[in-house]
Amino acid sequence: MPDLFESTTINGMTLENRFVRSATWEAMAAEDGTVTPELCNFVAQLAAGSVGLIISGHAYVSPEGRAGIRQMGADRKACIAGLAEMAAAVHAAGGKIVLQLAHAGCQAPAELTGLDVIGPSAFQSPTGITARAMTADEIADTIEAFGKAARRAREAGFDGVQIHAAHGYLLSQFLSPFFNKRDDDFGGSPDNRFRIILEVLESIRHHTGPDYPVLIKINSEDFLEGGFSQDDMLALAKRLQMSGIDAIELSGGTGLSGKYTPVRSGDPKSAKDEAFYRRAAERCRDAIEVPLIMVGGIRSLEVAEALVKDRLADYIALSRPLICEPDLIRRWRAGDRRRSRCLSDNLCFKPALRGEGIYCVTEALRKTETPGH
Ligand SMILES: Cc1cc2nc3c(=O)[nH]c(=O)nc-3n(C[C@H](O)[C@H](O)[C@H](O)COP(=O)(O)O)c2cc1C
Repeated sequence: MPDLFESTTINGMTLENRFVRSATWEAMAAEDGTVTPELCNFVAQLAAGSVGLIISGHAYVSPEGRAGIRQMGADRKACIAGLAEMAAAVHAAGGKIVLQLAHAGCQAPAELTGLDVIGPSAFQSPTGITARAMTADEIADTIEAFGKAARRAREAGFDGVQIHAAHGYLLSQFLSPFFNKRDDDFGGSPDNRFRIILEVLESIRHHTGPDYPVLIKINSEDFLEGGFSQDDMLALAKRLQMSGIDAIELSGGTGLSGKYTPVRSGDPKSAKDEAFYRRAAERCRDAIEVPLIMVGGIRSLEVAEALVKDRLADYIALSRPLICEPDLIRRWRAGDRRRSRCLSDNLCFKPALRGEGIYCVTEALRKTETPGH
């Protein structure tokens, strides 16, 4: 029976346990997207806390795909030196790290990038997004940009990369008929909507070789009227498996999905409320063999153990619990089985949006209220 604390290997990358830090924008890069010592210390702390695999915050592959302030970039050669320091900091603490590669598409704020906002199709949202449709040349350039960014990750010593194709960012917009209204080879049928992602994977393999771990994060569904469905997800997962993806992380939702955003707020009340995408993972269990990483609302060791024991997940990913307690995995491994102290109140976004870097506001408050805590 699989054990959470056993060592496993993904395409040559050996991991100490089955816990993953899900990609988390730290808002700790410099204004120009290069890595800072603050960011290196932050990820080193996670590695010291015994997280088996760290997935970095999303790094933009081209300037118009930037999503937020103090976000890390992987879009040019000048980023490599800082990325190398980040990878080295994690390795020195005994951890493994993959770089999440992303393009924000319609979600890129024009006031930050100073560039056209682009997506699969022209798009206007009630929240004020105005995007134009990408040309065929822009699609080809973006596919190449993912490949080149992956090569930079490898040069910098990252253990692998993860393609961000979830949460309503560019690749997820191509997957979703809600955003993608194209009538060329990149829109319409599922095969056409999947095309950009499979070409991104091919481009990454071309630039990094077959022996480099390439993971992907996809939505189990969009929770948008006429959007990407669970059936689409299953078909995509099978195609990704055929194309040689090394692991799939299953998330869900977009910023426009109301209460079903990827960062649902509110503390899960009981074990059965944990693991937001359990049903989707059940559908994957017998349909795909490629390692599956589950993320979203997992808060207790019991639930994590059951997901792995029931073969719903090969790996358990956490984001907010590790902002709250970077040493949570070490604590659990040492036998303190109390659940995560994270309340999923999303207050961690506030300092990040002010450009101060993420931290758990609630935990910081607890510490000031309980001196000596
Ligand atoms: C502050 C913050 C930043 C995030 N940044 C990213 C990101 O860069 N890439 C990504 O795929 N998901 C990102 N997420 C989503 C998480 O990876 C994860 O999917 C989500 O928080 C649900 O997991 P959790 O319930 O364990 O927090 C972010 C979440 C938070 C709270």
